[in-house]
Amino acid sequence: KNKNKSVDTRLGEICELLRSNVDYYDWVGFYFKNGDKEELKLGPYAGAPTDHTIIPFGKGICGQVAVSNENFVVPDVAAQDNYIACSITVKAEIVVPLFVNGENVGQIDIDSNTPDPFTEEDERFLEFINQKVAEIL
Ligand code: SME
Repeated sequence: KNKNKSVDTRLGEICELLRSNVDYYDWVGFYFKNGDKEELKLGPYAGAPTDHTIIPFGKGICGQVAVSNENFVVPDVAAQDNYIACSITVKAEIVVPLFVNGENVGQIDIDSNTPDPFTEEDERFLEFINQKVAEIL
């Protein structure tokens, strides 16, 4: 039966599982490259709705990861000048790129209301999640 679930349904469930099981994960979502455009488009997420459904490459933490292909851990969002605020309660953010056959196709983005909560363990964990997600895309 699992096989019949759409990719978006499964990604949404992953977001909800992460958000509800890790106390400092307050918003969890996937952004994907939007076709041939130089922008990211919001995919499935768990947490409060965001106005930032489209993010141009280079803009904000997410847009920077779209071009750097590297993890971006932000212990204090207030210290970032190229940052797009989704909610005033957010204190920290982590964005980990999602690769399919070596190509950066999107990312997982997590916001935290806790200051400086993310460690290398989160990076390795989210890289693992993204590898698994790449297999179902
Ligand atoms: N803060 C992100 C924008 C996306 S929201 O966190 C959902 C950024 O600076 O790219």
